Amino acid sequence: APAPIAGTIAVDQPGPVLSRHIQGQFAEHLGRDIYDGIWVGPDSPIPNTRGVRRDVVDALRAIRVPVVRWPGGCFADIYNWRDGIGPRAQRPTRKNDWWGGLETNAFGTHEFFDFAEQIGADTYVAINMATATPAVMRDWMNYLTSRGDDALAQERRANGRAAPFKVDFVGIGNEAWGCGGAMTPEYFANEYRKFATFFHKNGSTFHMHNDNSALRVASGPNNGDTAWMEAVLKAAGPQMDAISLHYYTVWHGDWEQRNTAMATGFPDAHWNEILFQAARMEDILKAHIAVMDKADPKKRIGLYVDEWGTWYATEKGTEPGHLYQQNTLRDALVAAITLNIFHAHADRVRMANIAQAVNVLQAMLLTDGAKLAKTPTYYTFAMYLPFQDATFLPVQVSAPMLKAESGSFPAFSVSAAKAKDGRTHVAVANADKDHGYTLALDLGALKARKVSGQVLTAAKLDAHNVPGTPEAIAPAAYTGGRIVKGKLVLNIPAKAVVVVALD
Ligand code: AHR
Repeated sequence: APAPIAGTIAVDQPGPVLSRHIQGQFAEHLGRDIYDGIWVGPDSPIPNTRGVRRDVVDALRAIRVPVVRWPGGCFADIYNWRDGIGPRAQRPTRKNDWWGGLETNAFGTHEFFDFAEQIGADTYVAINMATATPAVMRDWMNYLTSRGDDALAQERRANGRAAPFKVDFVGIGNEAWGCGGAMTPEYFANEYRKFATFFHKNGSTFHMHNDNSALRVASGPNNGDTAWMEAVLKAAGPQMDAISLHYYTVWHGDWEQRNTAMATGFPDAHWNEILFQAARMEDILKAHIAVMDKADPKKRIGLYVDEWGTWYATEKGTEPGHLYQQNTLRDALVAAITLNIFHAHADRVRMANIAQAVNVLQAMLLTDGAKLAKTPTYYTFAMYLPFQDATFLPVQVSAPMLKAESGSFPAFSVSAAKAKDGRTHVAVANADKDHGYTLALDLGALKARKVSGQVLTAAKLDAHNVPGTPEAIAPAAYTGGRIVKGKLVLNIPAKAVVVVALD
């Protein structure tokens, strides 16, 4: 057997807290994410609580979804919040101009916050910046948060909600460089400043007594566009609490080629290329963080990767605009590689929202009528639960490089953290489809005796779960870890995600 690869876990050099929001979700009025996926309506034969699917709530509660972003995406900039309040029977049906089909508005403000409360998540509302006005935003914010006797608070109460909703984050602009208005960064920054001025955040100058205390997130760059980051921070940095970044894993890193790669039934050679594109997140973050560090050396402004994940050709026989795709072991690796990268940059990356929660892109859950499947990506998130709000521990280990069509990337990545309960957790994402590795990680002063955990792998590269059929892939007990002379020795199988706890 090849010699173990030696490394260290620096237990005496704790880094930042890994915000639980890094494991955030995104739910857009797109395809079957909201309708069918989350909302079936109170009269549905599918078990529900006030119209929200119970199986979906149970599954999302189990991965302790820390925050959900809603209602878009591109949809946010065509959304009129007033369409989604009041008696459902009287709400207007509109065209969903972005993603096709009709928007019944059955799932609106009250239903979203009910859903978030059911799953126990913080809320991240994306306001309409491109086709609405600061006045519209202000009204929605007052409707949501006002404790007073103003007309908007009264209207909310008349619609069945006495207490203000808990609004934690608000996105101002979405992809302002693209579907959110095709703006230049300078133009966006000016618009952003205007909206931020009327955001009336509690605690800001002149607004010490406002009821709205959400953090403001400015629409940030796409991929590696550091010019956007620089210009927007320069002109509007002081008015924001965070700035977003969107990075999707697509074929050859070219969004125009997104329909080239299939989610399942792909040639073996596609494995490395997709995982290479996922691993590029590291360089993209580094480039943006370098710009942020210059503009904001105190690291006040968070970097929220509020859209990320794989984007493949849509499944045959489904509406192309609905972005429905299957999800395999390869996606589980994309998720684990990406979470490990976020951990390594957690002093800046304080939120991330995988796209999207149900039935869209790299989803956690897939539904088919009353049937539900948990995807391999869901299981990565389930295994990474101990990292929520844990303290990062730097890991030093060098992996061999794997070759893809567009470049090379590390065969495996490792991340470690100390959870609030004092336990140390280690995650390994082994992207190598052909080789396993033995790691021997020095634990320094940490005296551990027992290693237990889970492994997610499968014989087939495209192992996936189909609603209504027995699971083809799910985590299993991991027995390949032991402590040998103060070192954590892990036998990591090929193409696997392993997460262990040390006791
Ligand atoms: O997640 C799907 C879409 O991708 C979002 O609506 C948009 O913001 C991005 O282009």
